Amino acid sequence: MRLFIAINLNDSMKDALIRAQNRMYDRGVRGNYTPEENLHLTLAFIGEVPDAQPVLDALSGVSFAPFPLRLDGLGCFGDLWWAGMAESAPLAVLAHKVRHALAENGIPFDRKRFSPHVTLIRKARGDMSGVRIENASMTVEAVSLMRSDRGRNGMLYTELSRFPAR
Ligand code: 2AM
Repeated sequence: MRLFIAINLNDSMKDALIRAQNRMYDRGVRGNYTPEENLHLTLAFIGEVPDAQPVLDALSGVSFAPFPLRLDGLGCFGDLWWAGMAESAPLAVLAHKVRHALAENGIPFDRKRFSPHVTLIRKARGDMSGVRIENASMTVEAVSLMRSDRGRNGMLYTELSRFPAR
């Protein structure tokens, strides 16, 4: 199974992201828009593993206090466009703790530098100039272990387990 660790977004944050997607669409931007249920912020991408248990064990040792998360602007990696997060020490610390726990438990993960973003559209074609994102915010109250499966109509993400802040 293919796994990643993410912060799932609350409804008001997702609503702000959907409004940004709608503004893109209204401006003629076309591509593979991330469906509402798939909007998330990845902390670590693990990829294929035979068994989720070692990852569950690793995550059970990560503790953090609730903290605020705020959207801050639009950016891209090539033709993939994302909503960025405002600079946040607690977010950087959480990503570090999660990745450290994986490393300590011998679980391989993508070591690319943590660049907090929520993917809004892949293979985007069209003009993004003038597309704005609201400064919506939420409180992060949990980290989730997610499974990713290729569905008939795109990716299906399933929350395998949720680790609340404590
Ligand atoms: P992306 O949205 O920028 O593609 C599930 O694929 C999640 O893991 C996505 O949020 C994806 O980020 C992220 N991810 C990070 N590294 C990845 C990798 N090497 N392969 C696939 N997804 C990766």
